[in-house]
Amino acid sequence: MSFFPNKISIRKPDDMHLHLRQGDTLKIVAPESAKWFSRALIMPNTIPPINNSERLIAYRKEIEEATLGSGFSPLMSFKLYPNMKEEDVIKLSEVGAVAGKLYPEGSTTNAEDGVKSYEQIKEALSAMSKLGILLAIHGEKPDSFVLDREKDYLPELFKIIEHFPDLKIVLEHVSCVEAVNAVINGPATLAATITVHHLLITLDDLIGGGLNPHNFCKPVVKTPKDREAIQSAALSGNRKFFFGSDSAPHPETSKLTKSGSAGIFSAPAAFPLLVSFFEKNGSKDLLEDFTSRFGAEFYNLPLNKSIITLERKERKVPEKFSTIVPFMAGSSLEWDIL
Ligand code: DOR
Ligand code: ZN
Repeated sequence: MSFFPNKISIRKPDDMHLHLRQGDTLKIVAPESAKWFSRALIMPNTIPPINNSERLIAYRKEIEEATLGSGFSPLMSFKLYPNMKEEDVIKLSEVGAVAGKLYPEGSTTNAEDGVKSYEQIKEALSAMSKLGILLAIHGEKPDSFVLDREKDYLPELFKIIEHFPDLKIVLEHVSCVEAVNAVINGPATLAATITVHHLLITLDDLIGGGLNPHNFCKPVVKTPKDREAIQSAALSGNRKFFFGSDSAPHPETSKLTKSGSAGIFSAPAAFPLLVSFFEKNGSKDLLEDFTSRFGAEFYNLPLNKSIITLERKERKVPEKFSTIVPFMAGSSLEWDIL
């Protein structure tokens, strides 16, 4: 336990995994990230997907317009699709894409058009490796038992590593002890993002009491043992682990239905929750490395120059943002932006 003073300043953080959606939803949720984060890696699983340079440019413009004046910069990714050509990756690289996202077919929201096997995207992966574009993976094997899906994806991950030893890979939102260990023991080209919900909650918070669909995401939150491994990784100072919120808003009507959507809208609470977690369990330096240094370094980006100052001040997470219920709605946060 390291007590922070009542006011702390740290290098402005990055969120290396963020869903902003489009249109009116984007206008509501994007400022909630821009308030805390300097940059974010924007996920491409929109409809239609961000999978060519024209769509990437238009989507970036939409995000820039919604966050105008905040200093926020979107880092753009694209969605990999079967038989994607090298020339398509080159065009995406030319317009500033920094990562390609691999969604196994059927693994999560809008992944029906995903990839069955990495064999289908070898040409694209080889181009990415040459161009220095990172591979971001939703690492779940969709036909496995739900709690085993991430663990069962690891053999496919190792095949990709073996075939593309120079390709930098981020295993997104690690959720189980086996995946954490795979990253720790894997090559220097392999890193992982950690979300605030996988860091803080378990299956008990989803189905242990009353069913809480607002805590439902993919990969699903798991056991106390898995959470312990994730917490140790975040607190270890190992530069392979950095913050990516996977903040993923859905309207309440899509969550409260018989096939409710996976996704937790954590952007409004994520950073203050991290500050509290690192105050109780780590240190300010470990917090800053996890949120503001290791992600940028892995992506070969300059560190942010601006600073964020927070003050210790109790504040409740709003119950709703329009039709979207945020993570920890109604509960108290201990920190706010000064
Ligand atoms: O819970 C999730 N929601 N996991 C994902 O991988 C996708 C995301 C979304 O887009 O809603
Ligand atoms: Zn995601």
